[in-house]
Amino acid sequence: MQLLDMLEEGLRDIDARGLRRRRRTIDTPCDAHMRVDGRDTIGFASNDYLGLASHPRLVAALAEGAQRYGAGSGGSHLLGGHSRAHAQLEDDLAEFAGGFVDAPRALYFSTGYMANLAVLTALAGRGTTLFSDALNHASLIDGARLSRADIQVYPHADVDALSAMLDASDSAVKLIVSDTVFSMDGDVAPLARLVELAERHGAWLVVDDAHGFGVLGPEGRGALAQAALRSPNLVLVGTLGKAAGVSGAFVAAHATVVEWLVQRARPYIFTTASSPAVAHAVSASVKLIAGDEGDARRAHLQTLIGRTRTMLKETCWLPVDSHTAVQPLVIGANDATLAIAAALERDGLWVPAIRPPTVPEGTSRLRISLSAAHSHADLDRLHAALQRASADAQREGAR
Ligand SMILES: Cc1ncc(COP(=O)(O)O)c(C=O)c1O
Repeated sequence: MQLLDMLEEGLRDIDARGLRRRRRTIDTPCDAHMRVDGRDTIGFASNDYLGLASHPRLVAALAEGAQRYGAGSGGSHLLGGHSRAHAQLEDDLAEFAGGFVDAPRALYFSTGYMANLAVLTALAGRGTTLFSDALNHASLIDGARLSRADIQVYPHADVDALSAMLDASDSAVKLIVSDTVFSMDGDVAPLARLVELAERHGAWLVVDDAHGFGVLGPEGRGALAQAALRSPNLVLVGTLGKAAGVSGAFVAAHATVVEWLVQRARPYIFTTASSPAVAHAVSASVKLIAGDEGDARRAHLQTLIGRTRTMLKETCWLPVDSHTAVQPLVIGANDATLAIAAALERDGLWVPAIRPPTVPEGTSRLRISLSAAHSHADLDRLHAALQRASADAQREGAR
């Protein structure tokens, strides 16, 4: 078969299984109200949890960064691309999010995907065993594969199963890897137990706080701060394109771990540093997150989360028990999930249908992502539309 024929057959298969993904084109800034594919929409799709993506102070910081440092970095961090803006941001992040370890240092990456590949490939290798939660993000799964470590997947959040696996392992280097807030379920990993297991077994614990940084813990310092955890064995990855509203990611850990990454992490070394203007804007975002405005936004988000939990329980579908800004509603079949997402879209609401391979087969879902930019009136619209969709589904089911 010709290569193109193979791809066309593969795409037909994707269609037949209701798995075709489609990009929406957005003409307005990321906010609660957006113009998407030419239509006015209330967005519940972004990870802009604090509503900072179009905040005037961040837009101004981006412009100021560009004025001061230009548009591009010009090189990789080790070969001429590491600007004062990157260095300042790393200091800011170490101070803000590094409180879980003595001598913290932070390293800035252009994306969270790269940060996860970097950490796992630099800390794990042949002879390492990597223990990975079954629902970890794709970037952790890919990083684990690329590391060539032996990979053992433990059932989601099951610390007893993990403990048994660690007991049975005679690997010299062990690395436990987990999301903090699971991106498609919104639940929080049993972090205190994971830290305890890591210390008992002399293992590293790598946590990906993509959906916790900025939202959880005092001043939004993240899931580790929320649980008041400290351990030299901890390595934190935080992303900066979600609650922080800009882009990029960081790794925070003991300074020795970070220096090892600078020397050895290929996804850090062999890529052009992101624009210094972006780093400058992220520094402004960290200040916003940590200040009174961050507190007010987190408090508003919390009330929206409470309301959404109640409204999802009124539908005929299965809400996941999530106390975070990620509020999933599991529908099951791909086609049914797509149909409900389409009905919501006709009502002017953008709630994405999440399907395999992002979630396990048979657990397709609507992923309602809340933001401090949403108003109570926005939630009223969502509530009414979900009630209609749920009543329709029940009528269909009764036929
Ligand atoms: C849990 C988790 N980790 C890492 C990433 C990747 O971060 P980035 O989008 O900055 O590449 C994402 C989402 O994008 C995520 O949900």
